Amino acid sequence: SILIVDFGSQVTQLIARRVREAGVYSEIAPFNAAAEAFDRLKPNGIILSGGPSSVMWDDSPRAPQAFFDAGIPILGICYGQQTMMEQLGGKVEGGEGGEFGRAFIDVTGTCTLFDGLWAPGEKHQVWMSHGDKVTRLADGFEVVATSEGAPYAIVANEAKRFYAMQFHPEVVHTPDGGKLIANFVRHVCGCAGDWSMAEFRATKIADIRAQVGKGRVICGLSGGVDSAVAAVLIHEAIGDQLTCVFVDHGLMRLNEAEQVVALFRQHYGINLVHVDASETFLGGLAGVTDPEAKRKFIGKAFIDLFEEQARAVGGADFLAQGTLYPDVIESVSFTGGPSVTIKSHHNVGGLPDRMNMKLVEPLRELFKDEVRVLGKELGLPDIFVGRHPFPGPGLAIRIPGEVTQERCDILRKADAVYLEEIRNAGLYDAIWQAFAVLLPVRTVGVMGDGRTYDCVCALRAVTSTDGMTADIYPFDAAFLSRVATRIINEVKGINRVVYDYTSKPPGTIEWE
Ligand code: XMP
Repeated sequence: SILIVDFGSQVTQLIARRVREAGVYSEIAPFNAAAEAFDRLKPNGIILSGGPSSVMWDDSPRAPQAFFDAGIPILGICYGQQTMMEQLGGKVEGGEGGEFGRAFIDVTGTCTLFDGLWAPGEKHQVWMSHGDKVTRLADGFEVVATSEGAPYAIVANEAKRFYAMQFHPEVVHTPDGGKLIANFVRHVCGCAGDWSMAEFRATKIADIRAQVGKGRVICGLSGGVDSAVAAVLIHEAIGDQLTCVFVDHGLMRLNEAEQVVALFRQHYGINLVHVDASETFLGGLAGVTDPEAKRKFIGKAFIDLFEEQARAVGGADFLAQGTLYPDVIESVSFTGGPSVTIKSHHNVGGLPDRMNMKLVEPLRELFKDEVRVLGKELGLPDIFVGRHPFPGPGLAIRIPGEVTQERCDILRKADAVYLEEIRNAGLYDAIWQAFAVLLPVRTVGVMGDGRTYDCVCALRAVTSTDGMTADIYPFDAAFLSRVATRIINEVKGINRVVYDYTSKPPGTIEWE
């Protein structure tokens, strides 16, 4: 396995991903918890990530010095290169202006990282993002690639199996980066490259059994992929020691709540408490039009109800959550910089503290698409595993203005027509997220010979890889007009359909 030491780079998660793509298991640990992770994991190699700090600051983070004496291979990336050089006796200085974005490096030497890949004299594209740069090498290192802004673009100490690069091999803009990382983990570190989701499943089941023992676990289901996969995995590990609680806020898509109940109770035979709380939620949302007020109410009501049910189940020792790696990293702040709340996300984040329970989070190291692979491995149906993301507050944030039962029903129908057309056109998997929004605006129309005065429905579809940025999906006009016609004909209460052409930024994906 590989230990990735995180210095707070925005793209550390991609390193883990590339390592897994090479068929090797890895774990990421923040720099200040890396020593413990090392003892637990006993890795075959270490990768030091990039990060926003400068090694020239007084208290910038360092790798545990003992790592350099452990006799195992180390790869330093960007900040990881700089701290590695500095810690081994080299020197780093502030570059003039730095280098950001696409750059080309000249290969000037050879090392194991280049096996079957690069040879001296070649030029290759890489992605740089650095202000400081190494200006004196630590003993034993030689330069094997250079760029205009980084004379030490890649340096190697073959005897010690230490390598360091100024650019980011983990991002897609370094086309050979994945192969460089694969060479590191397989050729240099000697990892077998036979890691797969099947193995992950077996390892996690053993881990869960060891962690939980004879204890009882409670798990909240949301209808989303993450909590579903976590629940099925935990159930496989500990069977009836697991109880799932599904707080149904009545703001799900058409038939979704029924599907969740059928799948978990009937198909998997999991103990499931289904709390039908739509009246509580709709009651509390009456008269509420401010988006943040909706989000806060739903988040709090959800936690209250979950807690109440958990108490009713009685004596659970552990709370299971489908936390993914991106959720973990977002909650670790290295720079401490102020960030603005755009939306209060609802993901049951306050629960563990309030309930004073230990956490079981078997998906903590995975990315969304890997969770999907694991879900398939566990036999979850495709329609469930491949489902577009759905926000915790549900349809409430797709109904600007007041949320009522009637408006929810109208939106559910329109949304179902839209999604059915998307599936029929074979576009569902090409789209990150598609949904309908019911506007609080009424417009005049004419149907048959009569006047109509009904609501506007907006359609949204975006492509994205992580939900942080998004682009609109460019449907052809014939598709959009087919959907518009069907919605207006089939859904009473809507007489006009518009398509949202806003990317993120400046828009957000959801309307509220
Ligand atoms: P925005 O609207 O912020 O959404 O561009 C980005 C992604 O996050 C989803 N989303 C949520 N997911 N709880 C969630 O679990 C929430 O409160 C929430 N709000 C938005 C949204 O659907 C999109 O995929």
